Amino acid sequence: MYTINIDKKYNIYIEKDFNNIKRYLIKDNIEYNNVVIITDDNVCKYYLQNIKESFLGYNVFVYTIKYGEQSKNLNQIYNIYEFLLNNNIDRKSLIVALGGGVVGDISGFVAATYMRGIKFIQVPTTLLSQVDSSIGGKTGVDFLGKKNIIGSFYNPSLVYINISTLNTLPKEQFENGMAEVIKHGYILDKDYLNFIIDKKEEIKNYNKNILAEMIYKSCKIKANIVSIDEKEKGIREILNFGHTFGHSIETESNFDILHGQGVAIGIIASMYISYKKGYILKEDIEKAKEILKYFNIYSFKSFNIQNIYNNMVYDKKNDNKQIKIIMLKKIGQAFATNKVSQQTILDAIKYSLEG
Ligand SMILES: NC(=O)c1ccc[n+]([C@@H]2O[C@H](COP(=O)([O-])OP(=O)(O)OC[C@H]3O[C@@H](n4cnc5c(N)ncnc54)[C@H](O)[C@@H]3O)[C@@H](O)[C@H]2O)c1
Repeated sequence: MYTINIDKKYNIYIEKDFNNIKRYLIKDNIEYNNVVIITDDNVCKYYLQNIKESFLGYNVFVYTIKYGEQSKNLNQIYNIYEFLLNNNIDRKSLIVALGGGVVGDISGFVAATYMRGIKFIQVPTTLLSQVDSSIGGKTGVDFLGKKNIIGSFYNPSLVYINISTLNTLPKEQFENGMAEVIKHGYILDKDYLNFIIDKKEEIKNYNKNILAEMIYKSCKIKANIVSIDEKEKGIREILNFGHTFGHSIETESNFDILHGQGVAIGIIASMYISYKKGYILKEDIEKAKEILKYFNIYSFKSFNIQNIYNNMVYDKKNDNKQIKIIMLKKIGQAFATNKVSQQTILDAIKYSLEG
């Protein structure tokens, strides 16, 4: 259906089924002997058999983790290394990450480090992983309560997106991914944002052609950014739009809210600052609230505003504890700054939590 090439390094294929995996592996000259599929205990029920059929004639090993963020730790990595060694997995083997961002981040880190790096492919099955985490080569795990603090940059050999996997994804997980999709429109592409707003009903009703187009456009935006700035030394940081607020709100909620809900509140807070600085209009914020509410991701609990601010000071993306905010110069154009006063940030948090 769609193909995107990232900086002549690897391809992203967007399809409606799993039928073409083998063909693309051959086309992209990805050679291997054994196959190790890493998946989780939800995803395997639906798609493991399908994927295995793509590797008929190979030795296929399967490692299944328990679903969820709690699995993203170094013990898990240790257990996978042990599994690989016990099964004599050599450096010509291929790791297949079948699942959401958790499976993708773990599998990528294992692939990056086992025998100093073996090939892996991403087969993302959540909307978030399809438009975000499978692209750009960030891999890693959480450690001592800090998210993604141990890891490395390591690109997959290809990314294979089967949009039909979204049929079994819980609705709130789909909505969670919509926060990143909407973010892509705000930071880089006003036309894309208008496409999302115009097609919101079709998106909500899982219209396959519209979903494929949406995922393609989002992947292209992320692909363009990571091609220019692979190691997040510059422009890649605009992908964090809404995220410094969002991570802090997630932490404050004790991870009781979804990542996308935190990001949605963060998008509104960042837009409030952009509005206060005279870059965008109040009606732009109203429009953003509308589309985020349409996908059920702009919803609240009561939070302590000062705690949210305090968490932001320790965000790992800051320099010298100066809070970095991604703002909008206009809709479809974002930039980073660390020159926003504490009071303005507190006001923005308060505003974003008022609904
Ligand atoms: N590497 C990156 O650049 C990057 C970017 C953003 C997020 N992340 C990471 O991604 C992770 C979040 O990823 P996620 O939102 O995909 O969460 P996830 O991997 O935990 O998946 C969410 C839930 O959906 C289930 N699931 C997945 N696909 C399914 C399907 N098709 N049908 C039914 N159930 C399905 C999973 O079992 C899980 O319960 C976080 O750990 C985050 O740090 C990484």
